[in-house]
Amino acid sequence: MTADARLRAPWIIRLRERWHDRRNRWLMDPRFQRAAAAFLPTRPLARREARELFDIVAGFVWSQVLLSCLRLGVFERLRDGPVAAADLLPQGTLAPAPAATLLRAAAALELVEQRGEGRWALGRRGAALLGNPGVLAMIEHHAVLYADLVDPVAMLRAPRGATALARYWPYAAAAEPGSVEAASTAAYTRLMSASQGLVAEEVLDAHDFSRHRRVLDVGGGDGTFLRAVARRVPEIDLALFDLPGVAAQATARFTEAGLSSRATVTAGDFSRDPLPSGADLVTFVRVLHDHDDPRVERLLAAARDALAPGGTLLIAEPLAGTTGAERMGDAYFGVYLWAMGSGRPRTAQELAGMLQRAGFEAPVERPTRVPLQTRVLVSRRRG
Ligand SMILES: C[S@@+](CC[C@H](N)C(=O)[O-])C[C@H]1O[C@@H](n2cnc3c(N)ncnc32)[C@H](O)[C@@H]1O
Repeated sequence: MTADARLRAPWIIRLRERWHDRRNRWLMDPRFQRAAAAFLPTRPLARREARELFDIVAGFVWSQVLLSCLRLGVFERLRDGPVAAADLLPQGTLAPAPAATLLRAAAALELVEQRGEGRWALGRRGAALLGNPGVLAMIEHHAVLYADLVDPVAMLRAPRGATALARYWPYAAAAEPGSVEAASTAAYTRLMSASQGLVAEEVLDAHDFSRHRRVLDVGGGDGTFLRAVARRVPEIDLALFDLPGVAAQATARFTEAGLSSRATVTAGDFSRDPLPSGADLVTFVRVLHDHDDPRVERLLAAARDALAPGGTLLIAEPLAGTTGAERMGDAYFGVYLWAMGSGRPRTAQELAGMLQRAGFEAPVERPTRVPLQTRVLVSRRRG
């Protein structure tokens, strides 16, 4: 019996549940809380628990401090070095008193730091953010999600897809994604392109694309991922499939990049159209988690039909159940995708089951540097 199977034995589960019930009774007792904070050996634990609980309580305020700094240009003005407070938030941005409140809040979050009287510089987190324009674009678009979350219970009670975020991603809740207007794909396509950099590097380092002759990127957006593939593997042929409005943007970007002779773009709706054949590698980068199970099953079946036996399928996205990133997978993406109107974060095991039912071998996971952001599963079409 494996260690994992032993942990799932019924008597172990019962024991663990009984222990958790007892722990909860203690934690609900204010006298226990006081005693744990007073007793020296348990004090660090009690403090850590209080801090982590407060992180959850205050998270919304912190994300709004971040958004305010971004919108008011604080990070950009600090890009080249420390700046006097008066120049950081000059007349016309904020009055001095709220400006000081915002900067102190941002300093507490290590987004900025004070350098002597009245001068400000980037904090370590602000510097890391400036080095990652994709994250800045994600922060800005969160305003749409947070508008939906002003009344979170109302959002969860409303019919799925009746949100501002569902309008931002119009294909998600659409009965006919193929008829989504081109104009409404521009904002999300820009966001995906801006945030693609780190994902593409992770995927290309995790899997050797030079073993392939032609790659079909399904839901490939404006082709930012495929252009990264082309830079890494100059001889590989590129094919992209996306909704008509997005496919037109991809065609224009491939032309600008001088890649028109190597890249084929197909416009279509993968919820009903077949995928083009001829590729020996099909990739889904940040695509499957956007869709409910029946559409993902259909999509995997379409990928199987597009590949010859032995052909490779690669899935790259953040997954549920990622050790150390549970808050990202289940809390953040779970709520995000619910608000978006379709899809859910899946575990590697769930995707493995879906792949095998669709006619693929059990996938192999290729390690990535930041699994919180991207995990990569690779599978082959069965003969
Ligand atoms: C979350 S974006 C990911 C884009 C890109 N793969 C990336 O990682 O930057 C999902 C992509 O799937 C495309 N898509 C969604 N539903 C589709 C459908 N029914 N048919 C074709 N493409 C679709 C969207 O237009 C979008 O470009």
